[in-house]
Amino acid sequence: GVDQLMRVTPSMLKEHNKKDDAWSAFNGKVYNITHYLPYHPGGEKELMRVAGRDGTKLFSLTHAWVNVDYMLDGCLVGFLVPEP
Ligand code: HEM
Repeated sequence: GVDQLMRVTPSMLKEHNKKDDAWSAFNGKVYNITHYLPYHPGGEKELMRVAGRDGTKLFSLTHAWVNVDYMLDGCLVGFLVPEP
């Protein structure tokens, strides 16, 4: 539930930049993209470019029409927040 969501800082996000542990942020929401990687129509390599960081800009440049909130709803980790 929403009560279990985390507050994720950019430095926490950066720790999840591996193929077997990949998180990325889109529009302020942090998703665990690990299990989606093999299913990305644009390929794993493209998606890994945003692993461990904010992918909002690259995402909107490639396919702003794709609904990431809907697609990755089950992979939501929490919300991107500034460093303390
Ligand atoms: C294609 C989802 C992140 C690059 C697609 C398509 C979907 C998708 C559904 C097919 C779109 C269509 O045919 O209309 C996602 C999701 C992402 C994500 C859910 C986030 C978790 C990214 C990122 C990049 C990227 C960050 C670039 C660095 C591409 C490219 C294609 C594509 C280049 C086109 C592939 C082709 O048609 O040959 N993605 N994507 N995607 N994606 Fe992503």
